[in-house]
Amino acid sequence: MRLSLRFILPLALTLAAIAYAVIPLVDKFTLQWFVRDLDIRTSLIANTIQDPLRDLVREGSRTKVLRFFDRIMQDERLFAVAFCDPSRRMIYKTAVFPASITCASDGGDALVSESRLVNLQRGPIHVAIHRVESEGTAYGYLMLVHDMSFVQRRSDDTKKYIFYLFAAIGAIVSLVTVVIAEISWRGWVAGLKAVIRGEAFGRGETTKVPPRELRPVARDLRALIRDLESERRARDESQINWSADTLRGILRNDLKGEEVLIVSNREPYIHMRRNDRIEVQRPASGLVTALEPVMRACSGTWIAHGSGNADRETADSTDHVMVPPERPAYRIRRVWLSKEEEAGYYYGFSNSGLWPLCHIAHTRPIFRTADWNTYLTVNRRFADTVVREAKTADPIVLVQDYHFALLPRMIRERLPEATVITFWHIPWPNAEAFGICPWGEAIIDGLLGSSILGFHTQFHCNNFIDAVDRYVEARIDRETFTISYGGDQTAVRRYPISIEWPLNSKTMQKPLLECRADVRKRNGLTADAVIGVGVDRLDYTKGILERFLAVERFLELEPEWIGKFVFVQIAAPSRSSIDEYQNFDARVRALARRINDKFSNKLHEPILLKIEHYDPDDVYEYYRASDLCFVSSLHDGMNLVAKEFVASRDDERGVLILSQFTGASRELPEALIVNPYNVDQCAGALKTALTMPPAEQRDRMRSMRGLIQEFNVYRWAGRMLLDAGQMRMRSRLFARADRGRKRVPLRSV
Ligand code: G6P
Repeated sequence: MRLSLRFILPLALTLAAIAYAVIPLVDKFTLQWFVRDLDIRTSLIANTIQDPLRDLVREGSRTKVLRFFDRIMQDERLFAVAFCDPSRRMIYKTAVFPASITCASDGGDALVSESRLVNLQRGPIHVAIHRVESEGTAYGYLMLVHDMSFVQRRSDDTKKYIFYLFAAIGAIVSLVTVVIAEISWRGWVAGLKAVIRGEAFGRGETTKVPPRELRPVARDLRALIRDLESERRARDESQINWSADTLRGILRNDLKGEEVLIVSNREPYIHMRRNDRIEVQRPASGLVTALEPVMRACSGTWIAHGSGNADRETADSTDHVMVPPERPAYRIRRVWLSKEEEAGYYYGFSNSGLWPLCHIAHTRPIFRTADWNTYLTVNRRFADTVVREAKTADPIVLVQDYHFALLPRMIRERLPEATVITFWHIPWPNAEAFGICPWGEAIIDGLLGSSILGFHTQFHCNNFIDAVDRYVEARIDRETFTISYGGDQTAVRRYPISIEWPLNSKTMQKPLLECRADVRKRNGLTADAVIGVGVDRLDYTKGILERFLAVERFLELEPEWIGKFVFVQIAAPSRSSIDEYQNFDARVRALARRINDKFSNKLHEPILLKIEHYDPDDVYEYYRASDLCFVSSLHDGMNLVAKEFVASRDDERGVLILSQFTGASRELPEALIVNPYNVDQCAGALKTALTMPPAEQRDRMRSMRGLIQEFNVYRWAGRMLLDAGQMRMRSRLFARADRGRKRVPLRSV
């Protein structure tokens, strides 16, 4: 259809041009040509017969003149002949002579010859009048009338042939045009496809080279497509109401129910034996907070270290346990580690080496070869488990955090078709600082086994790219943030993590006033006590000391708040086998004691330090009971406490004070943003928070809540899974194309 249109259209145009321009022109020119021909011919006849005609006219024999005329008329084209005397009176004429034609001249007597065309009923005729002379004086005029119908006939024939000729040329030209257009169109389309395929997640070197004529625009074209794609994605994304159901829909539709495996060190449910009872503990971990609702929606398998002292007895014979206990939705596959392995891999390389290396908290990282070797062994153990758990050759594996930097490469080697999405939950240091790690290259090599590598902020993506640039041989596309390394590609992307929305906690059903009253009563505070809250693991990166110093400074500057303001610090014990953490525990306790001694009055102490584990429901109660929440991390990938506090405040009250060194501060500028090292600024923020008018609190809260609602954890996971889905679709497409190419037999050399 398209092809015939491309052929018929130029042909029709050619025929129209012949009909309206070529044929009238041909008509005009052939007529002129024949008239000129007849003019010459009649002059020739007139000159030839001049003398015999003069003699016959002088003789005056009418019969002889007419017989002479008949002889001349044997020429088939000559239609009639006449002779006029010098006064232009017609005295001899052949039997057939048009009555309307006279000897009268258009140009006067002086003319030697003239001609004209006359249209008679029978057709056009050519009339030529020639003066015949004898010794310089005219003795009459000879009229020669030619029948022009042959011109008409010839012209019709010519028109016919010209029409055929031009139609044939038109058809050939149209055909050639169609063929050329088709070939170059296909070439362009193929070229454009190659350019598009070469973009972002494209694989295979052959598809990366666009055709010569497209090369100058290839870059722009790719950028344009990328922009359009991301614009479309942003538009589509913003129209989605992100929830657990949305995520399930993505898994069902975009990923066709493909297998999802999560690997993290920390498990979401820990079974602990206390006396005779087994308790289920929810660990204090941002990673778990974010991933648990995702997993509830995905129903996959979560592979993690079984760290609880009752974990073995609660797992089945294949080391699996269904969770959440109250409503099983997915299963944990527990991996057992010996005390030595835990010491080297978890306390050693992960938390004494990588953790301080990645956080700017002025704690010196410790790298020991023995720890590194254990880290390697444990990563291999988890890789084995992933391979064993995978039911298909191409599962989607979500590798979590710095405990498993080597795992992506190990999985890629064993399951080359898997899509490995690695998320680094903590900051990535600048390239120079990263150079401190003696096994930096191996870490980068391991991570580059990922199909997608995610960080919370663009800043950390940039730092990672810089480290790759500095420490390994890789091709970096800084436009698409894609790294080609050893034949594989890794897309480095920013995916700011978040929390579930709305919060799935029974505490959210408890009226806010009740939470306020209960928390005050339980802690022996007066009903009108003003409460600030801090919730962290007891970790030196969290800025707990700086927070206490700010409280101290605030009370020094604003003594009227002594006895009225109480700061509740919930600090979950963490990594307590590590010296740094033990020292930190001691320093936190000592500082709280000193400040409490300084400001305690008969009502209560200003700092309520709770170094113990709190389950999420209890933590939410504190959020809801407080007037402010203080997050003062010295460095933090995201910090989900900030988001949880905001999410828990459906009364749109309460103030968030947030460190500028958290990933969250990029998303929540409505918080009071502080530098935790600036004690006076933090003390000022405490005062601002405690005196902030309710309307301002509401405006800030409403805006922050809107953001978290929109960018919740389902969107975080959904975006990664959608990207993975797109990547899998593309690589299947390329694999098919590659197989097709391989089927083409190669000419032997
Ligand atoms: C950070 C890390 C997580 C870790 C959490 C708790 O948020 O990014 O991977 O789970 O701290 O630490 P822990 O060592 O107790 O698992």
